[in-house]
Amino acid sequence: MTVRAPAKVNLELRVGPPRPDGYHELATVFHAVALYDEVHAVPADEITLTVEGSQAEAVPRDVTNLALRAALLVAERVGVEDGVHLHLRKGIPVAGGMAGGSADAAAALVACDALWHCGLSRDDLHELAAELGSDVPFSLLGGTAIGTGRGERLTPALARGEYHWVVALADHGLSTPAVYGELDRLRGAGDVPEPEISDALMQALRAGDAPALGAALANDLERAACSLDPGLRRTLAVGRQAGALGGIVSGSGPSVVFLTDGPEHALDVAVALTASGVASGVRRAIGPVAGARIVEPARS
Ligand code: C5P
Repeated sequence: MTVRAPAKVNLELRVGPPRPDGYHELATVFHAVALYDEVHAVPADEITLTVEGSQAEAVPRDVTNLALRAALLVAERVGVEDGVHLHLRKGIPVAGGMAGGSADAAAALVACDALWHCGLSRDDLHELAAELGSDVPFSLLGGTAIGTGRGERLTPALARGEYHWVVALADHGLSTPAVYGELDRLRGAGDVPEPEISDALMQALRAGDAPALGAALANDLERAACSLDPGLRRTLAVGRQAGALGGIVSGSGPSVVFLTDGPEHALDVAVALTASGVASGVRRAIGPVAGARIVEPARS
């Protein structure tokens, strides 16, 4: 069977001080966009993995791979002795700040649950997802949702409308722990306020008001990502000059996302980004979209 799971952008990402466990307390609004990874799962003797896609060589094949870890976790918790071969088709940028690894983990959870007839509930899946990574529960849920804790506590957001995004890709990744570490370094010893989502952003979502949403996009990790990768400032400037309603680094970067007014405007912004040469690739994607879903039923 095949399960696909979407990329995410953080419409707002507010980062609190580091916690004793090394994570940071977050207040964020996740938004799933139509860039997908697919996980094709077939019964096998052992649990194995192959990867396909333009950045496939950058994806780890060992137990640090989140899809593999997801399968191992389900097998261990449910007590399954069967194996599975997972084949990943990467459509989400690797190490791009768009939760590609988390999407693979969410898709693998859904695939193994179905393939091995585990009958896991939504809550069971959510719990396993949170163990695998902070963004994995949202990759299961999709849509638009508020995330708190380290990002794993989710509440669906009241959101209206469909949004047209342009994503500027980088030819390299950024390490998420390195970006959080850089933010701590830049903040120094100063007090960090409790993370909080702005009223302006929630109102824009409730109203389906794209220009207001564009103005309210915000990411505390952006200055840390730009500090580690100064070229991102130029990418942000090009998209804004091209008339985007707003632009931010996605999550910990280095992907940069721009909100536009509709499909034609998105094409204009995409063309400007491509022509400028600041991005290694440009994609258009609508949001919100559903979380990890089976797209092809198992053959009996
Ligand atoms: O949860 P996940 O494994 O995706 O997190 C990767 C890393 O990102 C963590 O080890 C931590 O350094 C950083 N992180 C954080 N605070 C969060 C989420 C992630 O510091 N809320």
